[in-house]
Amino acid sequence: MKKYTSINDIDHMLSWIEEAKEIKASPLKHNNLGKHKTLGLLFFNASLRTRLSTQKAALNLGMDPIVMNVSGDAWGIEFGDGTIMNGNTAEHIKEAAAVISQYCDVIAVRAFPSLKDKEQDEAEQVLQSFIQFASVPVISMESATEHPLQGFTDAITISENSTKKRPKVVLSWAPHIKALPHAVANSFVQAMHKMDVEFIITNPEGYNLNTAITKETPVSHNQVDAFKDADFIYTKNWSSYEDYGKILKTDTNWMLTKEKLGNAKFMHCLPVRRNVVAEDAVLDSDCSLVLEQANNRTYAAQLVLKKVLESL
Ligand code: CP
Repeated sequence: MKKYTSINDIDHMLSWIEEAKEIKASPLKHNNLGKHKTLGLLFFNASLRTRLSTQKAALNLGMDPIVMNVSGDAWGIEFGDGTIMNGNTAEHIKEAAAVISQYCDVIAVRAFPSLKDKEQDEAEQVLQSFIQFASVPVISMESATEHPLQGFTDAITISENSTKKRPKVVLSWAPHIKALPHAVANSFVQAMHKMDVEFIITNPEGYNLNTAITKETPVSHNQVDAFKDADFIYTKNWSSYEDYGKILKTDTNWMLTKEKLGNAKFMHCLPVRRNVVAEDAVLDSDCSLVLEQANNRTYAAQLVLKKVLESL
């Protein structure tokens, strides 16, 4: 596999899930595959889980991970073509990506959206520039519009915890004090489209996700209705897509409570703001899968890296 930047790069979700479960059962089985291979992890934005789980995955495969906080520690990178670089950027992506490719056998990139310009964010300039100018495979650790390592992780977690052949899965918008990207929600939607689940999205009016991604998925503006008979409830905030990047309301009624959760399992990608997105009683309950999701980030990343290493 030459790149992993989208859930759409997963050719067969069920076999990927089964293989990830095998890796989880024996994480060091392929610990020679990545020997003398270097993974470069480039962070334009903050991270806890992605940063550590992807390094852990690389170490389990015998790779040597090296990490750079690009925004803080590197020269300012210019992405524009033909730019007269007499401003704040000191190095062009053409040289930066080529140089990093000399040091790394695989490059992983995290670059969030601006949430100011939809067209610009959807062009995925940072990720696409690395794909264009790097000479080695590129993995997305969350781009402007997708978080495919998280989406695959969530599919694994649902598969592991489902007691039904076709569970009901609900993705619910949650309140938040900051405008957040759509990437986690988008990749979760794409992952559910590749699973045998009954899937519904619930969000307040004005918060519909990009219909090019949600496609035929039913959307309800009534959270209580949507939660009926749910087996899995995944809460996540995202800013408005229609009124791009805006917070239209911080309606606390949409916070997940234990009462609303009922008998469903609770999912969230973390980090989560307690008593804003979900109340303590949800996060502290046996129904919460959030720590298992975080655990599965390692095995999702490990399978992706394994497939990339096998193609080198
Ligand atoms: N879920 C997730 O991607 O966490 P981090 O932002 O901490 O990496």
